[in-house]
Amino acid sequence: MNHYILGIESSCDDTSAAVIKDNVVLSNIIANQKIHKDYGGVVPELASRAHQQNIIPVIDQAISKANINKNDIHAVAFTRGPGLLGSLLVGTSFAKSFALSMNIPMVEIDHLEAHILAHFIQNQDKNLKTPSFPFLCLTVSGGHTQIVKVSDYFEMEIIGQTIDDAAGEAFDKVAKIMGLPYPGGPVIDKMARQGDEWAFSFPKPSLPGFDYSFSGLKTSVLYFLRDKLKEDEGFIEKNKINLSASVQRTIIEILMDKLVKASQETGIREIAIAGGVSANSGLRDAVEKLRQGENWNIYLPKLEYSTDNAAMIAIAGYYKFINEEYADQDITPYSRSSALK
Ligand code: KG4
Ligand code: ZN
Repeated sequence: MNHYILGIESSCDDTSAAVIKDNVVLSNIIANQKIHKDYGGVVPELASRAHQQNIIPVIDQAISKANINKNDIHAVAFTRGPGLLGSLLVGTSFAKSFALSMNIPMVEIDHLEAHILAHFIQNQDKNLKTPSFPFLCLTVSGGHTQIVKVSDYFEMEIIGQTIDDAAGEAFDKVAKIMGLPYPGGPVIDKMARQGDEWAFSFPKPSLPGFDYSFSGLKTSVLYFLRDKLKEDEGFIEKNKINLSASVQRTIIEILMDKLVKASQETGIREIAIAGGVSANSGLRDAVEKLRQGENWNIYLPKLEYSTDNAAMIAIAGYYKFINEEYADQDITPYSRSSALK
C-alpha cells in the first residue's frame, strides 16, 4: 500500500508544504517571504505573521497539485526545530489541528536531519542514486555548518561544526557589508561567476579537528573594505564582482579543507552536501572536482531541495512514519537544540 505524507516547513522565512507518496515527491510548494528584504534580514515577528497568512493556501496548493484528496493523507510531518519559535509554532499548531481533525498521526522532524534526508527523495522512475550508509554530509545553511556522520536515517553524529557564524551567515554578512540585498548568498554566487576569484585574498582560520569558524573572515572583509573606502569611495562598486568571487572562494576552501580531512580520517568516501549553501555553484563545482582527486561518490541535492522546502520534511516524515514514531498532541517546538548530537 502507498502512503501519502503531508510535510510542513515553517522554521524561518519560507512557508512550504509538500505531499509525498512513499519516497516520491508529488508536490513541493514554497512561499518565499519577500517582506524581509526591506530589513536586510529576517524579522521574526513579520515571519510568523507571514506564515499565518501563507500556510492554508500553501497546503491547499500542495494537496491539489499532488492530485489527491486531503482524506488520502496518512500522516502529517512538521518541522519541530531548530528555528524561530514564532514561525515554528505556526507549522506545529497547524499540524496538530490537521492531525486531530483528520484522525491521523503526526510526526515531528528536526530541520537539520531533514536537510540531510532530502538525499533520499526519489523521482517517479525511482532511479535516483542515493547515498549508502555511512556517509558524510556537509550541512551548510543560514544557521548551521556541520559535518555529520550519517550511519542510518536517524542515526547521525556531528563530527565538526562552526564555533561562531554559519557559512550562509558569512555569505549574508559579507553581502550586507557590500550593500547587496538579503539574502546575500545567491547574489554573491551569481556575481562570483563573472569575477576573478584570486583578485583578493583573505585569511583562513586554523582550528583543530573538523570545526569551522567564519566570523574572522567577515571581520577581515569589513576592515579591508573600510581601509579601501578611505582611499576610494567607489571601491566596492568597482570591485564587487571580484570581491564576491574572492570571498566565495575563501568560504569554499574553508569548507572543503575540513571535509577532505574528515573523509580521510574516517575513511568514508560517500560524500553529500545539504542546506541552502549547497545551492552555491562554486561549492558544487569544488565537490565535483574533489570527487576525482579523493575518489568520492558525491551527492548534490537538486536546487529545490537545497534551500528550505517541505519535501525534505515529508521524506523524513515518511521514514519516521513507517517506524511508527509518532508525536503527541502536547509537543512543543524547540528553537536551538536539535536531534543531532
Ligand atoms: O537552508 P536554508 O534555506 O535556511 C536555513 O535553514 O538557514 O539556507 C539559507 C542560507 C542563506 O544564508 C542563503 O544566503 C544561503 O543559504 N544560500 C546560498 C545560496 N543559496 C542560498 N549561499 C550561497 N550561494 C547560494 N547559491
Ligand atoms: Zn534550512
